[in-house]
Amino acid sequence: MDKIEAQKRIIKLRSEIARLRDAYHVKNAPNVTDDVYDSLTRELKTLLQKYPEFNDLNAPENRVAGKPLDKFIKVKHKVRMLSLNDVFSEEELYDWEKRIKKLLPPGKTLGVKGSQTPGVGEGMNYFCEVKFDGLAVSLIYENSKFIRGATRGDGFIGEDITENLKTINSIPLILNKPFPAYLEVRGEALMSKKTLIKLNLENEKEGKQLFANTRNAAAGSLRQLDPNLAKERHLDFVAYDLISEGLVKNSPAFALGDIGQGTHGSLNSLPNLRLHSEKHDMLRHLGFKVEKLEEKCKNLEEVIVFIKKFEKIRPDFPFGTDGIVISVDDLKLQEILGVVGKAPRYMAAFKYPAERATTVVKDILVNVGRTGVLTPLAVFDPTLVAGSTVSKATLHNMDQIERLDLRIGDTVVIEKAGDVIPKVVEVLIRMRTGKEKKFKMPTSCPTCGTKIEKKEDLVASFCPNPKCPAKNERYLEHFVSVFEIYELGPKILRRFKDEGLITDAADIFTLTKEDIAPLERFGEKSADNIVKEIENKKHITLSKFLWALGILHVGEETARDLAIHFGTLEKMMSSARTTLAEINSIENIGPAVSKSLHEFFNEKNNLNFIKKLEKNGVVIEKAEKKKAGKFTGMNFVLTGTLSTMSREIAKEKILNLGGKVVGSVSKNTSYVVTGAEPGSKFKTAEKLGVKILKEEEFLKLLK
Ligand code: IVH
Repeated sequence: MDKIEAQKRIIKLRSEIARLRDAYHVKNAPNVTDDVYDSLTRELKTLLQKYPEFNDLNAPENRVAGKPLDKFIKVKHKVRMLSLNDVFSEEELYDWEKRIKKLLPPGKTLGVKGSQTPGVGEGMNYFCEVKFDGLAVSLIYENSKFIRGATRGDGFIGEDITENLKTINSIPLILNKPFPAYLEVRGEALMSKKTLIKLNLENEKEGKQLFANTRNAAAGSLRQLDPNLAKERHLDFVAYDLISEGLVKNSPAFALGDIGQGTHGSLNSLPNLRLHSEKHDMLRHLGFKVEKLEEKCKNLEEVIVFIKKFEKIRPDFPFGTDGIVISVDDLKLQEILGVVGKAPRYMAAFKYPAERATTVVKDILVNVGRTGVLTPLAVFDPTLVAGSTVSKATLHNMDQIERLDLRIGDTVVIEKAGDVIPKVVEVLIRMRTGKEKKFKMPTSCPTCGTKIEKKEDLVASFCPNPKCPAKNERYLEHFVSVFEIYELGPKILRRFKDEGLITDAADIFTLTKEDIAPLERFGEKSADNIVKEIENKKHITLSKFLWALGILHVGEETARDLAIHFGTLEKMMSSARTTLAEINSIENIGPAVSKSLHEFFNEKNNLNFIKKLEKNGVVIEKAEKKKAGKFTGMNFVLTGTLSTMSREIAKEKILNLGGKVVGSVSKNTSYVVTGAEPGSKFKTAEKLGVKILKEEEFLKLLK
């Protein structure tokens, strides 16, 4: 066979193999035996070995799913994967604009008047695109090849799901020319509404659990360790952002012109992208699927027109969506606006009003949470709202019940937005018959009977019993979810507890295959999976460890702030047990948190629990040492308004140089940076003789 014949044969083989695969996986109607299929595949492989020039990385044979994995490997994102701040109304959208306009240094406006950006009309401000409801993923390409894909995880560290992502046809395995030498593409992995219906029909037939929505189905599929299973789910991918080398660290925008040297076909420098919308054009060119429905808007009025237009199409849109993403289109302005907390200031997610439904409250139950807080729940017949069926809604606390004037038997309006637990928003008083009954909060814990207490800093009532079984159950669920031990769902945890296999969360880490396998409905394989997963999840970061402890008022963000400040558990504990001054000085941490930490770390049972976790193999990974810089060991306090940058940006710059930013001035403060109209911190600094820096001096120091 000569080269030309070989090429023809390769093309034929490819298309026939693709057809057979489709018949097998999609239509569920294999028309040849496996042997025939295998033999064609073998022939193709042999030919390609002989004529490697006909290798096509985007061809179906290269999407053959790899081997099942034991676990997903963690990967660190080069640039943090952020979230978006939501806006729920036109009014909130205008408030967002007002806030960001204020942050722009004098002289800059949101519009690109007089256009700094060639090709962009005067006053072009925003870019609108669909907000897909799937799973955020990051894809890495080196010299045009797809080398790794990962989940968002906590934004800093995700899981390597490359093999599963390779099974998605809309993810190019090789980029179109010209391409940058290094590229990260971000987007959403999705399951179409049609595919979900099909999958659920099959699952129903086989008595398997149904997926509540397309997002859960997409996430569940990508969490399969066996890529062959992921492949059968026919996922899709839409791209919405790209990041390339030359990226200015910690800056949302970056100089795409700085991309490093590429190999044949790559660009030494990409055309300088100046707009978010140009990134989308570039993504299309590189071979990604980017949603057609997007629009540049001159002002918020145009944005609102887009939002209304999409609202009409939304029910028939092929993918699940939960809003519109609005970006300041100009990348330079994005850079100036920066990021605050987990989300960029230059983007907002407009969420369509939550769907509402009415139902009759049959009863009010009281749930005991992991910190012992009692939450009343309204119970009703299964009701369809926002695409899923619910039968409970949170009532938060007694104050809320009184505010709503809710009684058992009332007809109520419930509301559910996306993933959020439904809530009761209104009582339809006119529907009353007179038979409705008032509800009283129990005076003793519905699970263990202990007398309920009220904390002065909480509206809620809570069960003070450390051994309360309900509290412990919720705590176990929280604990395994922070440790990401997905194999241990609430039912399994309860079972293990009932069987006496575990008494607390630390016992999870000593479970063996022999403990689990004999239990009815478990068996060798699932026991093995559980034990393997637990083993794999023993290493945890300090911030997650603190979060997992379930300390009152210490959520994910606070735990992260504490971990960054202290670096080790020992330092954090000794500080919390003795003086609270250091904890109180950390920005964003208030007295309620420090009080709670003080109580927690002075309780012998808690200290024993931590010791037991460590004894049972839990390892707190050393927090990555922050890069040392010229501010290492220095504490800064910021006061007043700076004219050249926002407070958040100033803080970021200090952190990047190794310094710390604290909330209050003490004699240990290295510098107090003052802007216009400084507060009392300025006076304290003067009194204590702490060095005060004016804005210009601070800017010099940063250089
Ligand atoms: S922009 C700054 N564009 O929404 C991070 N995100 O709520 C947002 N999402 O984690 C990137 N569609 O998974 C962007 N067209 C879109 C999006 C989108 C869906 C998701 C994304 C992100 C989440 C934030």
